[in-house]
Amino acid sequence: MKLLDIPFNDRRRRYLVFHPNRLPDRLALQSTTTTKMFESIGSSRFFVSRNQRILAKVVPDKFSKACSPIKWFLHDYLEKRWLGQSDARKEYLSLNILRRAGLQTPDCLGWGLSLNPGNRNASLLLMEHVQDTRSGGEVFDALDEEARLTFLEQLCREVMQLARAGYVHRDLHYNNLLIASNGDILWIDTHVRPLPTKSTDQWPALKKSLTVNKLRGEKYRNIVEQRLQAAWLMPSDPQSKNPKR
Ligand SMILES: Nc1ncnc2c1ncn2[C@@H]1O[C@H](COP(=O)(O)OP(=O)(O)O)[C@@H](O)[C@H]1O
Ligand SMILES: [Mg+2]
Repeated sequence: MKLLDIPFNDRRRRYLVFHPNRLPDRLALQSTTTTKMFESIGSSRFFVSRNQRILAKVVPDKFSKACSPIKWFLHDYLEKRWLGQSDARKEYLSLNILRRAGLQTPDCLGWGLSLNPGNRNASLLLMEHVQDTRSGGEVFDALDEEARLTFLEQLCREVMQLARAGYVHRDLHYNNLLIASNGDILWIDTHVRPLPTKSTDQWPALKKSLTVNKLRGEKYRNIVEQRLQAAWLMPSDPQSKNPKR
């Protein structure tokens, strides 16, 4: 564990950083046009180190202390800060699950927590700022129909790899993927949940993670469902029905 004073755009904030990995002793973070672009894609806030190598993902409190003090206290203060439910911690744990399943993710440099009730940005995930990548949504939109099918095939292989390790993604959409220049998928915004233990509940849970909105149309949702179902039912692979837990 490491105590870090991090200036965000020159406003200093103190975080307890867990599992610090190759973190410098001094870390200043700033907002740039790139981080503003990331913020326009997702709902978190982003800051980057001066050398552009470290990306900080910050999740602000859900409730306002002034407008909803009880909700803020129970949810943002007690649950998120003291009971281990911080978004950064959950994302860190999920990142490790994905890596163990053999999927690629950015390197995680630690997750941090601010216990200061005055700091609205209590949850902090520090990770490698991956260069030369584009977000999955942008890539998918630019592909022609044939290339989209190839992309979806690769996505299905990786979703099945995760399912065989016993997990399903909680928010499976293209902007939660980074696509490298060689076409590799890097998984970001990783929030996974274990598949149900009862084997007859496992395929329905996997199917439920595929939605028309997130996969950009019923046509693509259908293709993904069919590919995954075929792989799931494959008799030659005993693991496909009995994911490791
Ligand atoms: N480690 C990273 N390296 C490069 N770009 C990233 C990284 N993490 C996130 N991004 C960019 O930021 C966008 C939003 O990230 P995400 O983690 O999905 O945020 P949110 O939780 O707000 O949805 C992504 O679509 C991607 O373009
Ligand atoms: Mg996201």
